[in-house]
Amino acid sequence: MGSRIENVIRTAVQTFATKPNGSFVNANVSHNMNILRQLLSEICPADDLGLTRYSGQPRFPLNLFSSKAAPVSYMEIFENQTVSIGIFVLKDGASIPLHDHVGMYGILKVLYGSLNVQSYSSIDLPGQTNSSIVHQPQYLKARRFPISCINEKDSPAVLSPSEHNLHTIWTVGGPASFLDILAPPYDPSGTLNGGEVRDCYYYSDVAGEDGMPSNSEIRLLKKTSCPPSFWCDSLTYCGPDIKHLQHELN
Ligand SMILES: [Fe+2]
Repeated sequence: MGSRIENVIRTAVQTFATKPNGSFVNANVSHNMNILRQLLSEICPADDLGLTRYSGQPRFPLNLFSSKAAPVSYMEIFENQTVSIGIFVLKDGASIPLHDHVGMYGILKVLYGSLNVQSYSSIDLPGQTNSSIVHQPQYLKARRFPISCINEKDSPAVLSPSEHNLHTIWTVGGPASFLDILAPPYDPSGTLNGGEVRDCYYYSDVAGEDGMPSNSEIRLLKKTSCPPSFWCDSLTYCGPDIKHLQHELN
């Protein structure tokens, strides 16, 4: 029997595998996502991901600290054309700016610390507003959800192509880390999926402009460049050996 993280990877690939026409091989995605969420809830960061705790920082593992200045680090665990699985680490006070996940499913499990997540669902509600700029391509209308504070005891949060598919994430009271499964993965160069580019775009919430009420849950988002305060470096995965999966599941 493989390791727990191997089981997570295999289940994620089975859950999100698609046929050439784009439909899922296993039709009941929400059921399979619940199985994945349960597996992630059982993940032990030390035993299953090799994240050993640092004696001086008992709440945070040494190998999630980056010596570099980047506010956020990413540890890739597995990626193929179906899913990307990795661990994000946010230094104390760091945030991931509002960004989108167009056409993606996602599962986010906090491993250490606490995070605030503010998510939005993109919507298209003709007639909802008289705004003219909302029809310009750099603008997006979205439903904003209340901020949710999640920690390692909480079940994994999920997003889908239609729900919670934009979000911003920031730390609460110290550094934090979460395991992230995205399907299909971002693919800014189009190398994973036959040239189809799937990029990440950043947004700012500009409700209050163009006559839209600023206290409404229906928000106007404007595409922006990546804020200069956000950049990401990489950390090396140090958990159970899963190299064979990269070959087997590609
Ligand atoms: Fe995200």
